[in-house]
Amino acid sequence: NSFTPYSSATSLQPLWAGEEYADMDWDALGFDAVPTDYMYVMKCARNDTFSSGRLNPYGNIELSPSSGVLNYGQGVFEGLKAYRKPDGCGFLLFRPVENAARMQTGAERMCMPSPSADQFIDAVKETVSANRRWVPPQGKGSLYIRPLLMGSGSVLGLAPAPEYTFLVYAAPVGNYFKARLEGLAAINLVVEDEVHRATPGGTGGVKTITNYAPVLRAQLQAKRNGFTDILYVDPVKKKYLEEASSSNIFIVKGNVISTPATQGTILPGITRGSIIDIASDSGYLVEERLVSIEDLIDADEVFCTGTAVVLSPVLSVTYHGQRFEYRTGAETVSQRLYKSLTNIQMGLAEDTKDWTVEV
Ligand code: COI
Repeated sequence: NSFTPYSSATSLQPLWAGEEYADMDWDALGFDAVPTDYMYVMKCARNDTFSSGRLNPYGNIELSPSSGVLNYGQGVFEGLKAYRKPDGCGFLLFRPVENAARMQTGAERMCMPSPSADQFIDAVKETVSANRRWVPPQGKGSLYIRPLLMGSGSVLGLAPAPEYTFLVYAAPVGNYFKARLEGLAAINLVVEDEVHRATPGGTGGVKTITNYAPVLRAQLQAKRNGFTDILYVDPVKKKYLEEASSSNIFIVKGNVISTPATQGTILPGITRGSIIDIASDSGYLVEERLVSIEDLIDADEVFCTGTAVVLSPVLSVTYHGQRFEYRTGAETVSQRLYKSLTNIQMGLAEDTKDWTVEV
């Protein structure tokens, strides 16, 4: 491959010869469903295994009105990101093996067949390659990849659907939360103890599509009241932290970093797991345990993690009308962990754990 600098008037990263960027304002990326070029589709019958899929042009899909996913919410999804490598040529996926495994766990819970890890990763790679012009220049964002698995076959009585569709699409994204503070979005959370996102024995610990719409009303209300997002607590004692609507939660006190242990109601986030490892390796004492509201109030720093969110420092948490503020900005633990994580994701630091996969 010959290497030629990108010749437009902009100062975008150089690309391989013959390649070009999509026509996008790369400085204005948010978290929106930007239509790209291709999506990957693979189907299989109930009690069968997925065999082969293919790329289709990105677009609407056809579903029976009586499909399992539309009527009974039989579906799971994943989220992962591809970053353009520092030389502008080639991409890095972050821990796709973990996404493949989590989809399999969720599929099992929802009575669905799932693609093998190899099928999942191949589909993700094909989707990234086919949409390569949509991967933002480094430093501007990433390509967010959304694998979906759904009961696409028709059922009327409550039962697993007779046919399943695995679909992967992608969109270029920037920051999930709009507000920015020194390069990182600092967010304002409100504790919600009337509405719960998950209950013991439910599906909070897997990434089903049904975990998300039930929080929309509380989320909209919180936004109307000036908060960025909601922090949920356990539905029984209403005392222990669970997670935010789309991310896991961490608190920092001195050298100790704590996050709620995943016991069925909390999503085992891949960014959560990565931050636990990075923080332990960096000399922090990391605890997965019950984290109470008192612990939260007493914390020095609070931050959220997720694939979409990455790592968002929390500026304030409001609990029963009282607002508590935390350290944010330069020289914070959140900032250090954010840098360590994103440097690995973007190929700017050595990946000693083999977390990244090249496309
Ligand atoms: C992600 O972080 O990838 C998610 O799936 C959360 C979603 C609500 C954006």
